Amino acid sequence: MSRLIVISNRVAVPKARGAAGAQGGLAGALNSALKKNGGIWFGWSGGECEEYTGDINIRRSADGVTTATMDLAKQDVDEYYNGYANSTLWPLFHYRIDLTEYDREFGKGYERTNERFAESVQPLIEPDDMVWVHDYHLIPLGERLRARGIRNKIGFFLHIPWPPTRLFVSLPFHERLVRTMLHYDIVGFQNNEWLESFLHYCRKELGAEVDEDTGRVTLEGRSCIARAYPIGIDYDHFMEKGDTGEARNAQQRMVSSTRRRTAMIGVDRLDYSKGLPERIDGIGRFFDRFPERVRDLVYIQIAPPSREDIGSYQHIRATLEQKTGQINGARSEVDLVPIRYVNKGHSQEELFGFYRAAKIGLVTPLRDGMNLVAKEYVAAQDPEDPGVLILSRFAGAAEQMQDALLINPHSRDDIAHAINKALDMPLEERKARYESLIKTVRDDNVIDWTENFIGDLEAVVCDD
Ligand code: UDP
Ligand code: G6P
Repeated sequence: MSRLIVISNRVAVPKARGAAGAQGGLAGALNSALKKNGGIWFGWSGGECEEYTGDINIRRSADGVTTATMDLAKQDVDEYYNGYANSTLWPLFHYRIDLTEYDREFGKGYERTNERFAESVQPLIEPDDMVWVHDYHLIPLGERLRARGIRNKIGFFLHIPWPPTRLFVSLPFHERLVRTMLHYDIVGFQNNEWLESFLHYCRKELGAEVDEDTGRVTLEGRSCIARAYPIGIDYDHFMEKGDTGEARNAQQRMVSSTRRRTAMIGVDRLDYSKGLPERIDGIGRFFDRFPERVRDLVYIQIAPPSREDIGSYQHIRATLEQKTGQINGARSEVDLVPIRYVNKGHSQEELFGFYRAAKIGLVTPLRDGMNLVAKEYVAAQDPEDPGVLILSRFAGAAEQMQDALLINPHSRDDIAHAINKALDMPLEERKARYESLIKTVRDDNVIDWTENFIGDLEAVVCDD
């Protein structure tokens, strides 16, 4: 079997400072994929240096994953990571054209850093290896590797949404970026909606030929296959985490601190795509509409900080703190604080315990590629007395999780009514919804996701 070379910007380095919580869904998923398949995981160390050196640090982690990481120059971090990746592509791909910054230097930094990734990873790639590139930071990497003579099979997976054509064309040089994607053998998306947007763009803007049945996109003699591969959680591993003292302890802490009130939980990186201020407004509307229920509910928001050097992230944090403070100021009693806002990350064991203690899971992104928290919340429930998942219809996960209480995250009333409904939902209905949701969470897990993608990559017939 061929080795797998996984390349992503972020690499999960276990026990790294601040690692718990801030890494997001990609790192957890790839860690599971590599534990199962072996191979090398290459990416940025998270460290900065004055001048880029290309030095690679190879480590074997306790769970058997080999990581190879490099530092980036400060200018690269500013222009590529904080700049083009997270101030241009991230907001645009999450439909936030109002927050999208276009800057020539960001674009140049993005291309330069992708070239650095290609240069540094090339010596690690052997002729039979399969290469799997991840996420929006590294879209042109496949083309950069091809330019260096790499003929291996190379796949790409986008963990975030692909925006509608009308938004995407506001990106300067959009055509150049998408043309680089045709150098991959397979391009994967989280769901059919993002896949369709991508295919629409290829047809309408590039004039590419698209075969609807196979997903093959052909342009000027070059072609790739585009498909949807919805990512899942590492179900078995996550359940093992639930069976630890740390998880039980966390559950107990939550239960004893909320007592007779229903605990409702939200777990999100502090990111504007997660709809946090809109969610707090929805909770405020719930208290306004149902004042007699203020004592029934306590909301716990876990929100580890993310991408703190970027202005829009500093702004969202300030907004959230202000809104939370307002509601707590207006609704608290000496023995009651309706919203607990926790600004730090927690281990997955602790999260399991918190999810299980919470009878409502509130997941309301304005836009999200998938959202693994929604799946983890369901996995952690007690099958005999499961909680209720309230889920944004704009999360990629909604395509598979139709039996959640689906809401429009922009509507305060929708959120308020869903909370009220969840509080009153009879056990029988909770169980029926849970049975349907746990099926997709358990069966469509990250191991299947990896096998499906790798299986297709192995089977693909190359262009050259
Ligand atoms: N997470 C964590 N600790 C925290 C907060 C989040 O381990 O304190 C994990 C969470 O369990 C999930 C991931 O971070 O696995 C978040 O993935 P998701 O797809 O929901 O969102 P992303 O952050 O990737 O946008
Ligand atoms: C999302 C992105 C990942 C990213 C993660 C955490 O899940 O799709 O690529 O790694 O957020 O963000 P960060 O900027 O801290 O890597």
